[in-house]
Amino acid sequence: MKKKTSMAVVLYLLYSLFLFVEGFDRSDFPDSFLFGTATSSYQVEGAYLEGNRGLSNWDIFSHIPGEIKDGSNGDIADDHYHLFMDDIELMQSLGVNSYRFSISWSRILPKGRFQEANQVGIDFYNKLIDALLLKGIEPFVTLCHYDIPQYLGDKYGAWLNPEIQKDFGYYAEVCFREFGDRVKYWTTFNEPNVMIKKGYLVGTYPPLRCSAPFGECLSGNSSVEPYAAAHNLILSHATAVEVYKKKYQEKQGGTIGIVMSTTWYEPLQNSTADWLATNRLLAFDVPWFLDPIILGDYPSEMRQMLGSNLPTFSYEDKLKLRYKLDFIGVNHYTTLYVKDCLYTLCETTGYDGNAFAFTTGEKNGLPIGTPTAMPTFYVVPHGLEMMVNYIKERYNNMPMFLTENGYAQGVSNNTSSRDLVNDVDRVDYLSKYLGSLLKTISNGADVRGYFIWSLIDNFEWLYGYTLRFGIHYVDFTTQERIPKLSAMWYKEFLQGSGSLLKAD
Ligand SMILES: *[C@@H]1O[C@H](CO)[C@@H](O)[C@H](O)[C@H]1NC(C)=O
Ligand SMILES: *[C@@H]1O[C@H](CO)[C@@H](O)[C@H](O)[C@H]1NC(C)=O
Ligand SMILES: *[C@@H]1O[C@H](CO)[C@@H](O)[C@H](O)[C@H]1NC(C)=O
Ligand SMILES: *[C@@H]1O[C@H](CO)[C@@H](O)[C@H](O)[C@H]1NC(C)=O
Repeated sequence: MKKKTSMAVVLYLLYSLFLFVEGFDRSDFPDSFLFGTATSSYQVEGAYLEGNRGLSNWDIFSHIPGEIKDGSNGDIADDHYHLFMDDIELMQSLGVNSYRFSISWSRILPKGRFQEANQVGIDFYNKLIDALLLKGIEPFVTLCHYDIPQYLGDKYGAWLNPEIQKDFGYYAEVCFREFGDRVKYWTTFNEPNVMIKKGYLVGTYPPLRCSAPFGECLSGNSSVEPYAAAHNLILSHATAVEVYKKKYQEKQGGTIGIVMSTTWYEPLQNSTADWLATNRLLAFDVPWFLDPIILGDYPSEMRQMLGSNLPTFSYEDKLKLRYKLDFIGVNHYTTLYVKDCLYTLCETTGYDGNAFAFTTGEKNGLPIGTPTAMPTFYVVPHGLEMMVNYIKERYNNMPMFLTENGYAQGVSNNTSSRDLVNDVDRVDYLSKYLGSLLKTISNGADVRGYFIWSLIDNFEWLYGYTLRFGIHYVDFTTQERIPKLSAMWYKEFLQGSGSLLKAD
């Protein structure tokens, strides 16, 4: 790929790198540690009508006028469907040994289990996986990263219907059968806590369901539906893991987990009420999914607050849940303060409403960390350490991968590519968070990998193309990729001193 960055710029950027020596390097992490970058199908692939792909819920949603901030969609996105070989070259240049991506369910099964698998879609992922392995890059594959076939929503209401368990199990098995000889790291879902809260509690993601006062929607019930949908999703995870463990794992030798969005929470005031609210909110986030999967039932904080609105697991469900998982994927970006709204009268945040909590990034007008272009994302490196320790303790130090960590740059129409490429703030963020991660490992946490979100700027959900998370800049009119300072920092970290001058 053509590189536009001139030598002068490279030298300037190299010079800037010396500002970010954090006192650790690659050799402080185990040799077998996975270092990678991450993407997801809807955010990068584009080619939404090509290769017999079926429409996904995100295709339908992003085409509704007014839903996406800049009126954009993922029709083309990074055109990764056609440019994946170039993107693998970017990865090779970085020196990563792993790539986290997701499979588009509607590319493989346009109509779920009601129609044969789409060979063109299978061929695409075969080419991607083979090309990665040829470069020594381990595929780390998510089965569902928000996007699902729209057909399943139209046919039976997607996550609200237990039928989805059969569909997800069917889809997972197609993937294990077709790709599992080469894929050794599987995750069932990406951030189901975010997907369900945004889809059914505040109703800002498809299928736009919620009720007042949690959000404004045409239909839905925020006190009941998030928990019903999550229940079906947890059992869908269990269905896929059961298939993998019974039929594929021994033969294929891989592992399977799930990826959670994790926010670290701190009490706003050092009061019993705010501490209790913090514990409640933590329980309503990650343990909501991981407790049933790993410990066999929902956290007691949820049962207390929700009563019969929280479903129960039948005997058969519990049998299904016994296969648990092999590792936990942790996506981590930010830390927020929590204020109690159960003992104190206050307005809850819609997103945190059922836990009777209000979250904020500020205390007495001071931010908890440097704000970023993503409204609830603040730079609090210490939060990552707290979060990893919380998961380590709650789940008996189960193996973990930091499956996402990254920094958003805001874009207005006068932001130049030169400003975006010189992402000093991102380098600062990544090096501090990575340092925090190293501390948890030194203290015994079984963390086995780290993935930067994201390899390339891409379609950032409701924000469209107005937020850029990439360590490579993408010009969305020409599809040119340009390494940012952060890409050079990562390369330097992974390959050691002088690698920038040796390569290319
Ligand atoms: C949600 O469902 C519960 C239980 O069926 C019911 O009591 C409540 O009124 C419903 N709320 C709305 C907003 O429909
Ligand atoms: C919070 O309050 C407890 C008990 O009053 C006290 O021991 C502790 O030092 C306080 N922590 C902070 C950070 O102020
Ligand atoms: C973008 O530029 C146009 C004209 O130059 C201006 O009218 C508009 O307000 C700008 N939009 C933003 C978000 O800055
Ligand atoms: C973009 O425009 C805003 C508002 O006019 C201005 O404050 C800012 O400095 C401009 N940024 C650049 C990079 O020119």
